[in-house]
Amino acid sequence: MSTLGWWRLIYAAFAGFLLFHGFSASENAPNYSFMHNATSAPFLSYYDYIVVGGGTAGCPLAATLSHLANVLLLERGGSPYGDPNITKLVNFGASLSDLSPWSPSQRFISTDGVINSRARVLGGGSCLNAGFYTRASPEYIRQAGWDGRLVNQSYEWVEKLVAFEPHLGHWQSAVRNGLLEVGVVPFNGFTFDHINGTKVGGTIFDEQGNRHTAADLLEYANPRGLTVLLYATVQKILFRFRGRRSRPEAYGVIFRDGSGIEHRAYLKYGFKNEIIISAGALGSPQLLMLSGVGPVAHLKAHNIPVVLDQPLVGQGMCDNPMNAVFVPSPIPVEVSLIEVVGITHFGSYIEAASGETFSASVTTTSRNYGMFSPKIGQLSTVPPKQRTPEAIARAVEYLDNLDQAALQGGFILEKIMGPISTGHLELQTRNPDDNPSVTFNYFQHPLDLQRCVQGIQTIGKIVESESFSKFRYDYMSWPGLVNMTEHSPINLLPRHYNSSIPLETFCRDTVMTIWHYHGGCQVSRVVDPDYKVLGVEALRVIDGSTFNYSPGTNPQATVMMLGRYMGVKILRERLGN
Ligand SMILES: Cc1cc2nc3c(=O)[nH]c(=O)nc-3n(C[C@H](O)[C@H](O)[C@H](O)COP(=O)(O)OP(=O)(O)OC[C@H]3O[C@@H](n4cnc5c(N)ncnc54)[C@H](O)[C@@H]3O)c2cc1C
Ligand SMILES: *[C@@H]1O[C@H](CO)[C@@H](O)[C@H](O)[C@H]1NC(C)=O
Ligand SMILES: *[C@@H]1O[C@H](CO)[C@@H](O)[C@H](O)[C@H]1NC(C)=O
Ligand SMILES: *[C@@H]1O[C@H](CO)[C@@H](O)[C@H](O)[C@H]1NC(C)=O
Ligand SMILES: *[C@@H]1O[C@H](CO)[C@@H](O)[C@H](O)[C@H]1NC(C)=O
Ligand SMILES: *[C@@H]1O[C@H](CO)[C@@H](O)[C@H](O)[C@H]1NC(C)=O
Ligand SMILES: *[C@@H]1O[C@H](CO)[C@@H](O)[C@H](O)[C@H]1NC(C)=O
Ligand SMILES: *[C@@H]1O[C@H](CO)[C@@H](O)[C@H](O)[C@H]1NC(C)=O
Repeated sequence: MSTLGWWRLIYAAFAGFLLFHGFSASENAPNYSFMHNATSAPFLSYYDYIVVGGGTAGCPLAATLSHLANVLLLERGGSPYGDPNITKLVNFGASLSDLSPWSPSQRFISTDGVINSRARVLGGGSCLNAGFYTRASPEYIRQAGWDGRLVNQSYEWVEKLVAFEPHLGHWQSAVRNGLLEVGVVPFNGFTFDHINGTKVGGTIFDEQGNRHTAADLLEYANPRGLTVLLYATVQKILFRFRGRRSRPEAYGVIFRDGSGIEHRAYLKYGFKNEIIISAGALGSPQLLMLSGVGPVAHLKAHNIPVVLDQPLVGQGMCDNPMNAVFVPSPIPVEVSLIEVVGITHFGSYIEAASGETFSASVTTTSRNYGMFSPKIGQLSTVPPKQRTPEAIARAVEYLDNLDQAALQGGFILEKIMGPISTGHLELQTRNPDDNPSVTFNYFQHPLDLQRCVQGIQTIGKIVESESFSKFRYDYMSWPGLVNMTEHSPINLLPRHYNSSIPLETFCRDTVMTIWHYHGGCQVSRVVDPDYKVLGVEALRVIDGSTFNYSPGTNPQATVMMLGRYMGVKILRERLGN
């Protein structure tokens, strides 16, 4: 056999080894006896609670309710277990760049032109995300009107299974020290709490780089009280009128299985039984509208029979803008997602991720550029509306042909709090599989723009800090890098960072998403403070669509907490105390 032949064989054996190990994680994954493919479900069934959407909020909610009632959890996607694109930290981005109809991620592009993603898998966004785990501030919890003690107990319930302390490598440590050096103080150590200053936050990745998602919270479920159906897409909520003057009452759902067959699930007759929508910030307002609850003119335009004229469904859509700079490093850096955060006093959160170029997927040989890869839609070097498929393809090709060493380094990003700017969501079709049209109006409010500018200025100072000196080049002394700066499809710090270009322009032109979009079914506009949909009976919405404001620096901890918290509240009501 030729030398090349031997190498091929060794490579194949190695790839097989990796593949085996990648999938072997599923052996340790919970084998939920209550989880089934929707194709095996009866055409008609009855439950006390029907939860629509097995995502970040839906899983902890259903697990909790299953202890005192019969619960059906309907998820349009499949199981996360055994898919290394989901379970392995080094594969971050693989799902986001998989555009197939069975991908756990469904791409959408807001009318603003920013490329974004929504989950389609049991565990929801916690199967796709960058893993950072951090609680909401005490002020946020007070303003939400939540019971602080139950909130803390609910966070702890979540943390026991899915939150870990990261072990900082040299690059993340330099970001932490840089933040402190430029005045984002004090240092608050490792904590889940939201405190001004710099801290190390939690992560849902364990020490081996395995992801622990909201689906893991189903381990808490009572198996006799829960049925989880995968590949079950809810088409609409069914409403009835008990009397001529009564309010519409939700009493069942129609869902379609993977073969396109329709099934119906109804609430059992019972005073306290309910349907709960946890389909996420795009899915929940979309499903309400498809079911006839929404702005009347819009529903009529789509030939949807009106159940309730509710003009605020789909209003208040927000996405926190993210802007970032890539800082090439002369020395190797670790592969990291978000581990450190600077909580500034001007309303900008500074985080970082490194080592993209080394995060090769276990199952594919293609290069993966992590959180800022054009493959996943993060293309910040052209203004949002120019981020066409052709522009993405050009950027991917450019990066694939670059010397790997040129991309050694990491990104420092800033996300603004809030945001204050809001937009809206509208149906495009009556098919629940299709994306609705969504507009976020990034930076429409001047304070949002100001917070971005201050965040970028702070990032500039961090890069120039003494603490960060090992991880940056002296730009002017390396012509190759200056050339890269001119042509690279990622933002290198000096590219827009000179006095002739206002940072306001930089913020608008390079805006990306950090995927913390929320709103559409906000508290006191579409749902009441108990998350009951206003104007109808037996229906709640519990997920990120109810937020007016993104909680903490990153939302997932609070979304999971809310699922548990509301599950406990609903069971207390059921028991009558
Ligand atoms: C790439 C990425 C990175 C992120 N990074 C972080 C991070 O590091 N830290 C952090 O805190 N947050 C992060 N986030 C945000 C966080 O993950 C989300 O805010 C959170 O997961 C939203 O939870 P949710 O329950 O509102 O919606 P989801 O988790 O999206 O749940 C909605 C579920 O409903 C299902 N569904 C929708 N419609 C239907 C239907 N008609 N029938 C049946 N099922 C349906 C969907 O398939 C989905 O599983 C990130 C998100 C993404 C996408
Ligand atoms: C999972 O459990 C089911 C029965 O609940 C069983 O049939 C199946 O073999 C189990 N699978 C694994 C991998 O243990
Ligand atoms: C993992 O992601 C890659 C790249 O996006 C895709 O080609 C592959 O099919 C995915 N694997 C699985 C198991 O879904
Ligand atoms: C909840 O926990 C936080 C610390 O994480 C603490 O500051 C707060 O006082 C606690 N609230 C209640 C009501 O116990
Ligand atoms: C679930 O059912 C669908 C439709 O019949 C089928 O295509 C799919 O392969 C099944 N999935 C699993 C994991 O069994
Ligand atoms: C933290 O900073 C915010 C401004 O972003 C300020 O409103 C708040 O009072 C500060 N909190 C504390 C405890 O200092
Ligand atoms: C600079 O980059 C461009 C585009 O990649 C390339 O065509 C050119 O040869 C480079 N110039 C130098 C001096 O490296
Ligand atoms: C600033 O950047 C712009 C765009 O890259 C460039 O045209 C301009 O010459 C730069 N100005 C200075 C002073 O470097």
